[in-house]
Amino acid sequence: MTTYPEFDQVKRIGILGTGTIGASWTAYFLAHGYAVTAWDPGDNWQEKLTAFVDTAWPQLTELGLGPGATKAALTMVDTPEEAVATADFVQENGPERLPIKQELYARIDDALPATTVLASSTSGLIMSDMAEGVKSAPRFVVGHPFNPPHLIPLVEVVAGKDSDPAAVDWAMGFYRHAGKHSIRINKEVPGHLANRLQAALWREATWAVANDLASIEDINAAMAQGPGLRLALMGPHMIFNLTGGKGGFQHFFDHFTPGIANWWSDMQGDPELTDALRDKIWAGLKDETGARSLDDLEHERDLRLVELLKMLQATKSQIKQP
Ligand SMILES: NC(=O)c1ccc[n+]([C@@H]2O[C@H](COP(=O)([O-])OP(=O)(O)OC[C@H]3O[C@@H](n4cnc5c(N)ncnc54)[C@H](O)[C@@H]3O)[C@@H](O)[C@H]2O)c1
Repeated sequence: MTTYPEFDQVKRIGILGTGTIGASWTAYFLAHGYAVTAWDPGDNWQEKLTAFVDTAWPQLTELGLGPGATKAALTMVDTPEEAVATADFVQENGPERLPIKQELYARIDDALPATTVLASSTSGLIMSDMAEGVKSAPRFVVGHPFNPPHLIPLVEVVAGKDSDPAAVDWAMGFYRHAGKHSIRINKEVPGHLANRLQAALWREATWAVANDLASIEDINAAMAQGPGLRLALMGPHMIFNLTGGKGGFQHFFDHFTPGIANWWSDMQGDPELTDALRDKIWAGLKDETGARSLDDLEHERDLRLVELLKMLQATKSQIKQP
């Protein structure tokens, strides 16, 4: 039986792959007072990683740095073996390709310390496939974040067929200890949970384009200026608990579900993902975007995200806890 480290004994995080997600995780862990050892096989990855951490640091500072947090605690190494050898926890963020993950896991298998848990950021692969035949597989889990992980709290934790249940519990607890909001997904299914919810929504948003229900701008507003605001605070089931008025969820269920079942029966079939549909969405996005660049939009998203996260922190003390 493996004895995993106490959460406050975790000092050093190994980061494998420092692209979009790995760089953001690196910034997050540094800002929470951890030392990070990172590795990536790409060109100029050290410069890109340093630049990303510099850009994210003011946002992370605004949200509150952990004790002892410093960008100087980042070490960049030449091999994945070195990145994991002294790590108390490893976050893997290599390309979303099964053979690449399998090869990487086989390569680090002997170097990973015997009590270190490795979590993969994978959006769509399952650990049972990725860690097949790897000696350390009992300590491998999925820890799927949302982009950008240095701001979005959610991490979905999923076991593979060989994962030690205690390692899964440990990962759940460690993410919470490190300030993330981990949730446990009980089964390996494509897309885990949160991306399936997003994909279900996007299917309808895409169907609305294909069927000329509204302009792209108005479809975006239908969520961002409407239900998206309250969904960000409570999630789909809890929000419908309030839709039922004083009768709560029971009243909602009895009163509204016949209508919703009727809409569901109208929602059958996936919209065909043609080039014409892609071009139509793209043209609508360009109209809505106007003079703003992608960097401007990213800035807008992150600026508001930081304010939203600060608001959630600030109002916590005024809200009755469960
Ligand atoms: N982009 C997202 O929105 C998002 C969100 C959540 C999870 N993820 C997951 O995170 C992982 C990384 O995705 P990304 O968007 O950062 O991709 P990315 O292409 O931005 O980064 C991948 C990085 O892996 C490096 N790399 C190449 N070969 C490697 C190897 N053998 N071992 C380790 N690293 C290697 C590349 O140089 C690159 O820097 C994927 O598993 C993806 O599913 C992505």
